Amino acid sequence: MIAFGFRLVVAALLLALAACSQSSSPPAAQAVSDAAKGANSDGDTSQESPFEITATIRELMASTVDPAADGLWDSVALTSTRKGVEETQPKTNEDWAAVRRHAVTLMESMNLVVMKGRHAAPPGTKAAEGELSPVEIDQHIDANRGALIGFAKALRATAQKAMTAIDNKDVQGLFEAGGDIDEACEACHVTFWYPNQKVPQT
Ligand code: HEC
Repeated sequence: MIAFGFRLVVAALLLALAACSQSSSPPAAQAVSDAAKGANSDGDTSQESPFEITATIRELMASTVDPAADGLWDSVALTSTRKGVEETQPKTNEDWAAVRRHAVTLMESMNLVVMKGRHAAPPGTKAAEGELSPVEIDQHIDANRGALIGFAKALRATAQKAMTAIDNKDVQGLFEAGGDIDEACEACHVTFWYPNQKVPQT
């Protein structure tokens, strides 16, 4: 009697499972199981990586790093016009919030730049005079990953300085951080992008 009852329950369960799997469409089921895999391997490199690299360093520079840096640099400026010197600086809370968004983007973008397996530029990208080709940059990065990470960390520290200035509504501090950011960009570029650039003689 007990065995019979148990079998009935199992049969009911199987039926329920079958109904379940029939009602969920295959793509959705796949997405759920993919998501589950991602969750299991979160941060654990021994399993399938949760990260997927979809852009090159060059594209990241153009779409996140450069616009974010411009947003910070343009936020504080002295512009000399025919009418005199015009001062630009964040004034309202919205202005400060807008610059802060750029600082966040800049800081976090460095985590993306140093991801292992990210290539320098799309294949076939032409290098200008003094610049390394994308393949040469990739090789240089593979051989000097520690240096790349060091430059990214240095840049992140300057963006952090900008962030502190922003949170204190410190215009002068933000201006100074802008100069530091510029130097940190350049340090990585002269090492990994255009080491053969001829410096104009002065
Ligand atoms: C950790 C290294 C590193 C840092 C830091 C860095 N870059 Fe770059 N950047 C590169 C490399 C490598 C390339 C060359 C990619 C290529 O074209 O092959 C590049 C290319 C660029 C390009 C060219 C993109 C294009 O589409 O032509 C711009 C613009 C740029 N960087 C802006 C910046 C700015 C602004 C900063 C600072 C806020 C910065 N980068 C900081 C590594 C770095």
